[in-house]
Amino acid sequence: MPRLFTGIEIPAEISERLALLRGGIPGARWIDKENYHLTLRFIGDVDYSIANDVAEALGRIDRYPLTLTIDGIGSLGTRKPHSIVARVQPTRPLLELQAEQERLMQRLGLPAEQRKFSPHITLARIRGANGRDLADYLYLRGGLVSRPFEVTRFVLFSARDSIGGGPYIAEEAYPLMRQAPANDGGFDGRAASA
Ligand code: 2AM
Repeated sequence: MPRLFTGIEIPAEISERLALLRGGIPGARWIDKENYHLTLRFIGDVDYSIANDVAEALGRIDRYPLTLTIDGIGSLGTRKPHSIVARVQPTRPLLELQAEQERLMQRLGLPAEQRKFSPHITLARIRGANGRDLADYLYLRGGLVSRPFEVTRFVLFSARDSIGGGPYIAEEAYPLMRQAPANDGGFDGRAASA
């Protein structure tokens, strides 16, 4: 049974910068930079017939490329932090892409995602880390902001069967290549007033 999720790959240049943030929290398990990604929709363990339906449904998505920006480093898990993440700005096109995937997956009969989507790139798992170490780390590193980066595809990934975790395999990639409509010379409300 494959364990699937959809996500966005992180450009190498951005991954290199994020990888410089590794270290400084005893007990943290830092993710390899090759495995950095932004999860859009966790699908979980499904049989091969559903996996094919998922792959096909995702192919119907027709959207513009996205521009993403990392706007800080933080932790997830309010009472007991479990991960260190790079937070990604929740822009409207990103939220809409995620929401469309959610609708498509529910239409295939998959259970609704219960967690609110909060776009991020996981950098480390920190279960059991000391709160003081985490606070110091975030004080020093929390301010990182990336240059905006272009995203021209999303990916259907598989994780290792039932265990999860990397390495992740890109099973299928889906271009975000919709073109802005060409100006056909028709009325566009911007006629010259001279
Ligand atoms: P995370 O980065 O916030 O941990 C592959 O396992 C990806 O799917 C990971 O990026 C992980 O998100 C996410 N994921 C794993 N288990 C999940 C679950 N039960 N619900 C939602 N997302 C999950």
